[in-house]
Amino acid sequence: MCGIVGILGRHEVAPALVEALRRLEYRGYDSAGIATLRDGKLDRRRAVGKLVNLSDALVHDPLPGKSGIGHTRWATHGAPTERNAHPHRAGSVAVVHNGIIENYKALRDSLAADGYAPETDTDTETVALLAQRHVAAGKDPVEAAMATIDELKGAFALVFLFDGHPDLMIGARKGSPLAIGHGEGEMFLGSDAIALAPLTDTITYLEEGDRAILTRDGVEIRDESGAQVSREPQKIRMDAARVDKGGHKHFMAKEIAEQPVVLANALQAYLSDDGIVLPEPGIDFDKVERMVMVACGTAYYACVTAKYWFEQLAGIPVEVDIASEFRYREPPISKGTVALFVSQSGETADTLAALRHCTGRADSILSVVNVESSSIARESDLALPIHAGTEIGVASTKAFTCQLNVLLLLALRAAEARGKMSNSEVATLLDELRRLPGVFNAALGRDDIIRETAEDLADAHDVLFLGRGLMFPLALEGALKLKEISYIHAEAYASGELKHGPIALIDHAVPVVVMAPRDHLFEKTVSNMQEVIARGGPVVLITDAAGAAEAGDDAWRTIVMPDVDPRLTPLLYALPAQLLAYHAAVAKGTDVDQPRNLAKSVTVE
Ligand code: AGP
Repeated sequence: MCGIVGILGRHEVAPALVEALRRLEYRGYDSAGIATLRDGKLDRRRAVGKLVNLSDALVHDPLPGKSGIGHTRWATHGAPTERNAHPHRAGSVAVVHNGIIENYKALRDSLAADGYAPETDTDTETVALLAQRHVAAGKDPVEAAMATIDELKGAFALVFLFDGHPDLMIGARKGSPLAIGHGEGEMFLGSDAIALAPLTDTITYLEEGDRAILTRDGVEIRDESGAQVSREPQKIRMDAARVDKGGHKHFMAKEIAEQPVVLANALQAYLSDDGIVLPEPGIDFDKVERMVMVACGTAYYACVTAKYWFEQLAGIPVEVDIASEFRYREPPISKGTVALFVSQSGETADTLAALRHCTGRADSILSVVNVESSSIARESDLALPIHAGTEIGVASTKAFTCQLNVLLLLALRAAEARGKMSNSEVATLLDELRRLPGVFNAALGRDDIIRETAEDLADAHDVLFLGRGLMFPLALEGALKLKEISYIHAEAYASGELKHGPIALIDHAVPVVVMAPRDHLFEKTVSNMQEVIARGGPVVLITDAAGAAEAGDDAWRTIVMPDVDPRLTPLLYALPAQLLAYHAAVAKGTDVDQPRNLAKSVTVE
């Protein structure tokens, strides 16, 4: 999704604007631009494609000025062209926007009737035209911006600049995040703390409906009613150096490889010699009658995995839902229900909306997030950080295993609290979990066989993933990883579903990845595998040593993982799924870290 930055600076702002946009690249985009006030007059540079194209434009045609706004655009309304790139301008107003203005068509008609004709296909230009119409009607910039914001419906984070007002920047937040950065004689606005990290470590997060009026001396914040409000600034520990690839070819490769260390650190945060340590306020699992877990994409598959753990280990019934369905179905939330939301970014629009449906209805709202300052974290009764560190690759890898880590610990805490597992049984599994980073490291040694298999898979047009029990959500995750970065069509099924339709797809051109450690369901999955092989389907079997010995040599490829407690297999078997996708994408030459059409954080519906 789009990235926004604004600077009222003491120095030339163009380089800092571009650097801030570079730190927002991970959100996904297809064009970029900046605008500055040059001798009090607005001027813009915009470019299609990667930021390097905008940098080129600025080298050949510099943009001076100490006040400016910048934007990376993920196209919603209007193709990714220079004309549609932000900042958008109308007369004396320039604006950048993240979100969707749902009533822009009606507003455009009203503006056209008053002679304000659009020049682009975007909803954002409507915002600039509205503000210009208010300025032309005699309003000052603050009044014009407030009146404009009042007319908008939909989700938006906005930043305005006005001709002739080099010491004024106006921001607004409704449905898309926006943060204020506090400097020394400078002030900033940005989509998140990552963008502002090199500029300041003091951040104020705007709340829903907030508007911010910034000058270099400070900020006035108003709520939707126009009343002045105060929002507490926070010190943010953000790595100011741009996150680098650590010598890897892609961020995704780095983030896959660092999972052992990251998992070890995450375990440190939650384990003491006495067992599991959860942040306050604790959860009284004895009173929990059921849980609802809601998320999107990979985070949703983490919830599907957690369902098995909570039901099997703690005896708590769990319903798992895709956020975009949950939010509009508005299911009844009965007493005794705990609602849990999983989100790496903590800003996914559908997940946040689902959380808000549960606020005031569920007994408590839990979240499992990677960004502790995110909207989902801030609107939860208890936010559990996963400690994965910044994840830049659009395809979620270390965040997924760290989400699973926290969800498993939560399930074990529940099992203990409800007397379903004894302290010693929990302690034994925690010891296994403490050893997992080392097992993960050993599994990274399988990279060569996985890469060779992936290179063979890269020519396929369709791939199926099969799994049973805890391996079913892992099959779902493996299919998502493969399709989202290699663009190969991939689907996942519970192994037991094969004969209910999908087996019709099997032929020599459809590889089938079977994820099956030698657990209590192994025989059943091996017979599914034989059904595939009998019909000429090439099988990639991902299993452990015992499974490989039992399955024999019928599979086209066998990837043998290190042994691990069956209850921990989802964390470990995420690795081959990630590496298969990664190497297939590299073999196909796709943009591994920023795959086409995708964004790291889907902050619009
Ligand atoms: C996963 O690889 C994808 N990038 C995507 O499915 C992602 O998991 C989903 O958009 C949810 O994002 P969140 O965890 O930030 O809410």
